[in-house]
Amino acid sequence: MIVGIIGSGGREHALCLKLNQSKIIEKIYCFPGNAGTNLIANNIEINISDFKKIKKICEEKKIEMLVVGPEKPLVEGISDYFKNSNIKIFGPNKLASQLEGSKTFTKKICKKFNIPTSKFEIFESKAEALKFLKNSKFPIVVKADGLASGKGVYICKKFEESKKAIEEIFEGRFGIANLVLIEEFLIGEEMSYFIISDGKTFKSFQSAQDHKRVGEGDTGPNTGGMGAYSPSRLNSDDLEDKINRRIILPTLKGLNDLGTNYVGFLYVGLMIVNNEPYLIEYNVRMGDPECQTILPLLNSDLGEIIKLCCDEKLELAKIEWLNKKSLCVVLCSKGYPGAYKKNVKIDNLENLKTDENQFIIHAGTKFEKNNFYAIGGRVLNVIAISDTFGESKMQTDKILKKINWKDGFYRSDIGYKVISK
Ligand code: AMP
Ligand code: GLY
Repeated sequence: MIVGIIGSGGREHALCLKLNQSKIIEKIYCFPGNAGTNLIANNIEINISDFKKIKKICEEKKIEMLVVGPEKPLVEGISDYFKNSNIKIFGPNKLASQLEGSKTFTKKICKKFNIPTSKFEIFESKAEALKFLKNSKFPIVVKADGLASGKGVYICKKFEESKKAIEEIFEGRFGIANLVLIEEFLIGEEMSYFIISDGKTFKSFQSAQDHKRVGEGDTGPNTGGMGAYSPSRLNSDDLEDKINRRIILPTLKGLNDLGTNYVGFLYVGLMIVNNEPYLIEYNVRMGDPECQTILPLLNSDLGEIIKLCCDEKLELAKIEWLNKKSLCVVLCSKGYPGAYKKNVKIDNLENLKTDENQFIIHAGTKFEKNNFYAIGGRVLNVIAISDTFGESKMQTDKILKKINWKDGFYRSDIGYKVISK
């Protein structure tokens, strides 16, 4: 079949590489893709919020199935737009996407079904929120309600910090803010857990741990993710069972009660406290860079799995994983997550040799006049899979040295918790 992928990051290049191996897929278009997808698919320059135009191109190019990478078009309703067309779409509808689009939507489902999560309160005004904070214990977490691209979350050690957070949110720093969420600070270790669902059943889709902070030792400002490894060291059959029973099933039931269901990947952001899972957040998509880290471990046909999902036949899908350790390091533009230069040339990519267990996955790149250029904050993902995280890390180190990009930087300590010195 002919398939379209929406998005332009590392996640989408990883999806593209895996779908390119599918027995049932003959051609791939990327809306708009990056320099990496350009090597194996056809990039189409487009605004991904322009559903009408995407549909027109799908009809012209005879695209039969669309796989949506990022959250924004999902929250904007791209799945609803294509629902009654001949084009299958993989990704949750607008209502189900509120699991990521509105933190208070998710928290209300948690409350109704007793899903383990941090204690929380929702406020509509600055005055009420501040009154609550005056009598609170610190640290405390303050969150803007809507989509904020991983920003909009403040971990506050003192009242003054939380006051500033409340002010920034209500002043509209993350878009129109009618609601603010204040929640208990959980102490534990974070884990990302993924499922895939066809609206009727769901299956586990691996675990990972990512490094969100920009600095070595997990310090400094939050980013979209500086690296990840999979599987998570915390995961076990027992933990998965708890997550499925206590968190996923009641959430899917909550959506059913609202008259809808969930089709797509669901990213479950968890805090594991003494082997007990607490929900921190949902994302209605694969993680980035978790997707790049996880997909090389998939030993089944992703095209078939996604098509079965679109046909509500996920129960027939075979999802098998290599028993290997995957590690991904993200190469970023200097300055990220703050300001950085764009259109910076990246040398050494063209003749770079990698073996079948090593992957260079593009994110913010473009190809022009026979050269690769960095156009984003997160530029390349370097991944290796092997029998141990230590070996995988040695391999990613070697590749990064070969790339030797003077205008970029990366964290040298990705996976430090799973690699013994
Ligand atoms: P979120 O966008 O909700 O995932 O939050 C971003 C990051 O803030 C998470 O990955 C956690 O590291 C941290 N965080 C969010 N909520 C909490 C919480 N209740 N307790 C501790 N850390 C949190
Ligand atoms: N790696 C975090 C995210 O995709 O949101």
